[in-house]
Amino acid sequence: MEYLEVNGGKILKGEVLISGSKNAAFPVLSACLLIEGKCHIKNIPNILDVKKFLFQLKKIGVNVLEGEHEVEIDASSSFKPEIPPEETENIRGTQTLLGAFIARHMKASIAGLGGCNIGKRPIDQHIKGLESLGVEISWDKGILKAHSPKGLKGNKIFLDMPSVGATENIILASVFAEGETIIENAAREPEIKDLINFLNLAGANIEVNGTGSTIVVHGVKKLKPVKYSIIPDRIEAATYLILAGLTKGKIKIKNTLPYHLEAVIMKLKEIGLDVSVNENEITASYKGKLLPTSVKTLPYPGFPTDVQSQILTLLTLANGSSVVTETVFENRFRIVDDLLKMGANIRVEGISAFITGVKELKPSVVTAKDLRGGMSLLLATLSAKGTSKVLEPVHIDRGYESYIEKIKGLGGDVERKNS
Ligand code: UD1
Repeated sequence: MEYLEVNGGKILKGEVLISGSKNAAFPVLSACLLIEGKCHIKNIPNILDVKKFLFQLKKIGVNVLEGEHEVEIDASSSFKPEIPPEETENIRGTQTLLGAFIARHMKASIAGLGGCNIGKRPIDQHIKGLESLGVEISWDKGILKAHSPKGLKGNKIFLDMPSVGATENIILASVFAEGETIIENAAREPEIKDLINFLNLAGANIEVNGTGSTIVVHGVKKLKPVKYSIIPDRIEAATYLILAGLTKGKIKIKNTLPYHLEAVIMKLKEIGLDVSVNENEITASYKGKLLPTSVKTLPYPGFPTDVQSQILTLLTLANGSSVVTETVFENRFRIVDDLLKMGANIRVEGISAFITGVKELKPSVVTAKDLRGGMSLLLATLSAKGTSKVLEPVHIDRGYESYIEKIKGLGGDVERKNS
């Protein structure tokens, strides 16, 4: 059994280079399937989920040439628009293959979508959107079967909630649809903008209106191969800024886009960290005391649900009472039991966690249960003076590139062990 052994309580200081965005990589790589020719994608994060995703592309017959932090995708020859059940486990990123398969082949067969167990994660909005473009959808033993016998025709779609995955799938499916597709109440996450930028560079005709919640896709006939570099990972960036607070340190993150992190930066300032921004760099430093606050997760540009576990962990050490409210996913307080074991004072009631700050966290044996929660427990153990273990680090491997090396580079003491 693999685990991380952490000798916590050290003040972490230094610089971290932020990797490419996990959640931008999947839709952009899926979009390459719409293109006949070689697309060259740079700033690809070297993480388990992306490796699994690229493996799947190879298995269905797409030519994939992997380099260091870059990949060449050539979908010139026909490929099988099918992802069998055994392949989807644990990767939410496969969801955008649905839209890509439909755009390219007018059909798709995709088994139940995986990802972190952080809520029910229905796909009714994806289905509603695709059906309104003319896609017929049925289920066969848990496998989603889609086909579009009469082709795809643009339509107006109003999403019940700004779902990231549904917005991406509808954009992908409608690139070649006849006429105009209008997505209202679309998600506005930077990863969606990145997908649109990639597609437009390749010859698509996609407009984003006003505040970004209306997206208009004008159908085109063909896309051309392009070179593209995906955006940096804003969730990884936020995680290292929070680590500075938890370890009373000073961490500068490089290769980031600070305007993607405004909600996080504002909260960290409220909590009493000194946060300074300089072009593509952000520095967070501990200033002697953490202040309590309230945090509510919301779709972008609100506070990201993917940073909720990390900020909750930070607030366990604030000087007073805080409230963290999770409005996006219904099962995202799974780290609380482990934080309680570490001496935190947290009470969960419905969608809110009420936290009374303690002086310090105690070392313990904790278990990663999902990606962001797992990383947050690692942050907690780095703050707790003494030796801790984090079991099941595979959850963290899914989405954080070289985190052991990056933490060691800051002066942290963490080793991967096997027993
Ligand atoms: C993506 C991200 C994930 C992030 C989330 C919200 C990827 C691979 N994952 O997940 O890291 O936490 O956005 O920022 O990009 N919903 C429905 N019906 C639907 C679709 C969604 O009810 O058809 C609900 C979900 O259950 C959830 C909320 O809408 O409560 C947001 O989900 P969504 O934005 O779709 O998240 P994902 O695309 O799965």
